[in-house]
Amino acid sequence: MTATRQGGDMLGVAAAEEKGIDTARYRRLFKHLPTAVVAITGVDAAGEKLGMVVGTFQSLSLDPPLVMFSVDKTSSTWPKIRRLKHFTASVLGAEQVPVCRQLSKKGPDKLAGVPHHAGPLGTPHIEGALAWLDCSVTAEIAVGDHFMVVGAVTGMGEDGGNPLLFLGREFGRYEPLQPVAPEITTPAQTGVAS
Ligand SMILES: Cc1cc2nc3c(=O)[nH]c(=O)nc-3n(C[C@H](O)[C@H](O)[C@H](O)COP(=O)(O)O)c2cc1C
Repeated sequence: MTATRQGGDMLGVAAAEEKGIDTARYRRLFKHLPTAVVAITGVDAAGEKLGMVVGTFQSLSLDPPLVMFSVDKTSSTWPKIRRLKHFTASVLGAEQVPVCRQLSKKGPDKLAGVPHHAGPLGTPHIEGALAWLDCSVTAEIAVGDHFMVVGAVTGMGEDGGNPLLFLGREFGRYEPLQPVAPEITTPAQTGVAS
């Protein structure tokens, strides 16, 4: 990571509200944006297994392969995961709502009752996940009330299945509109990660 470019000013809550960007409305607006549900897991120096759930996980770059997600600065789990500088991202399936609920609770023993095994980095891999990526933390940027985390992919695997989706406080599953997808070229397929 060599260059950081910053554009316009970030508005504080008061200044944003003056412009009509009401916080509650802003939050509500995102009920129209479905997200995948991804478990971020790690271990601390004492070997405690750690986990949290994010809805902000994305592919950031193909060359090199990088992923990103954002973490609330109030998270107590992320500072412990970041200390060892690597994590596993497991893409949860539609049958894994209980796993999501367990990992998104605050408190100890996040992995209790969640079927998992240790991956190549020693980090927990969630059983039944659609796909997993082992990553090392390559950049972390404090932006607003979150940290934007960038991970370099060091390993991956997939079993497939139907992804768990989250929309407006509700869980759901993906349903295609037609049996055969038309030819769609996404930026990730063309190598343009803009
Ligand atoms: C569907 C879903 C998506 C979430 N997405 C995020 C996210 O992108 N970033 C984040 O910091 N927390 C997110 N959370 C909250 C965390 O998973 C979790 O509640 C929190 O990290 C637990 O607190 P702790 O970090 O103090 O253990 C999400 C929770 C759910 C249920």
